[in-house]
Amino acid sequence: MKNDLVAIVAEHKTLEEKLKHISENIEGKVVFSTSFGIEDQVISHAIFSQKIKSIEVFTLDTGRLFPETYSVWDKTVLQYQATIKAYYPNTNTVENFINANGINPFYNSVELRKECCFIRKVEPLNRALAGATVWITGLRAEQSANRNSVKEIEWDEEKQLYKFNPLLDWSTDDVVAYLKQNGVPYNTLHDKGFVSIGCAPCTRAIQPGDDFRAGRWWWEDQSKKECGLHT
Ligand code: ADX
Ligand code: SF4
Repeated sequence: MKNDLVAIVAEHKTLEEKLKHISENIEGKVVFSTSFGIEDQVISHAIFSQKIKSIEVFTLDTGRLFPETYSVWDKTVLQYQATIKAYYPNTNTVENFINANGINPFYNSVELRKECCFIRKVEPLNRALAGATVWITGLRAEQSANRNSVKEIEWDEEKQLYKFNPLLDWSTDDVVAYLKQNGVPYNTLHDKGFVSIGCAPCTRAIQPGDDFRAGRWWWEDQSKKECGLHT
């Protein structure tokens, strides 16, 4: 499996070719997770414009997303006649968590923030990835120091699948140019200083020169700022 994946990625130049050949030649379930950020919109375009049906595209709707994120989700489905599967947090767990800790408990401690991320993202992600052999993401090395060590293809021991990060070496300019050239819808928050976009209460705009992820969980220590999706 790994050799097939490595060979396909090495033999084909463009993102489109890589995804097409993966969809045709890799055995087992291949999934792509989108948060509708600019990177994910590039990959969505490559999948939907080629009408690749065998890659399941899914999103984790935490229930706390920006209205602009729902808007680009809707636009994408309409523009490509796309199927994007939504996963939701467990209702009882969210109710218990909010009733015990309040509506915005993530500002009170790193533990509560991580618990919220676990309930709203990680547990639904585990369901979305169940039975998958390849998980495609929009991670880029430029996004943070942690992500500098990410590889284009890597074995995820915990989740027991291969992760494929096709945009690993793309720059922000590469991503933006691709969206423009191809008329891909994007989250309009990107025009207002938002770079890395997650849940509304935990994301804010950044200033020119700030770190790429400075607007995520800005009240926390820099080194702890991952939500558990990518460990
Ligand atoms: S996070 O770990 O900080 O939340 P980030 O927003 O940088 O992740 O996104 C990195 C990749 O994780 C995206 O390209 C996408 O594949 C996946 N991802 C992040 N958030 C979601 C989401 N809500 N739904 C689906 N995939 C997501
Ligand atoms: Fe909860 Fe914030 Fe994590 Fe979203 S990013 S799941 S609101 S703590």
